[in-house]
Amino acid sequence: MGQKLVSVPECHSTNTLLAELLQRHELPEGTAVVTPHQTAGRGQRGNTWTSQPGKNLTVSFLLFPTFAEAARAFEITQMASLAVLDTVSAYVPGARVKWPNDILVGARKMAGILIENQVQGAFLSQAIVGIGLNVNQTDFALPTATSLAREINQAVALQTLWEELAANLERRYIGWRERKSRLDQAYLAQLYWRGEWHTFQTREGKMEGMIEGVDSHGRLCVRTAQGVRFFSLQEIQYLA
Ligand code: BTN
Repeated sequence: MGQKLVSVPECHSTNTLLAELLQRHELPEGTAVVTPHQTAGRGQRGNTWTSQPGKNLTVSFLLFPTFAEAARAFEITQMASLAVLDTVSAYVPGARVKWPNDILVGARKMAGILIENQVQGAFLSQAIVGIGLNVNQTDFALPTATSLAREINQAVALQTLWEELAANLERRYIGWRERKSRLDQAYLAQLYWRGEWHTFQTREGKMEGMIEGVDSHGRLCVRTAQGVRFFSLQEIQYLA
């Protein structure tokens, strides 16, 4: 990962730039697009991703997971989440993944992942894995955000972190491709709020439930007084 590196001083979104480059060039698997300044970073659910210039990692990796059935697309989410968790966990204890792929330390978000897949027939053909990891930014507009430096009270070298992230993603990706590791078990073991009763917002209103896991379609499985229910990203929010 990152052997071929496209590094630009500024761009709108590394995910978008990588997709645009792919329309004009053939790029090898593992190509990474990185910038210190994203002007229109994109998040999940149509949200924006803001990051102070020069402080954090904003990077997109190109994968060709043609071995994976489209129905197994959630495994990319698990694989990428684990790679970011590996990276963060080398610096801070207690990092967790909040389904589907927010990386939290305590109750604060340190990293987000935006995965954009392409499918050909029944298989995946391409995935752009965009990672925003808060590193040296210490003031945030959102009270629910944090960074590595904020948690360990020390600046972290971006270059070192970038190399660690690329190496972890490569290891997790190869493990997945060779089916050497059980992604689902590793992901479940680090799942935020798993096995605890909490309050959620659903389309029908507030709901008490306990996260049990994630099904093969990537839906969140929540035990409630009425039995186990399954939710997609648009259908549930975490409250308290
Ligand atoms: C989220 O938590 O909603 C996902 C955030 C993903 C942000 C990263 S930063 C690099 C890449 N380029 C983007 O425009 N988004 C992702």
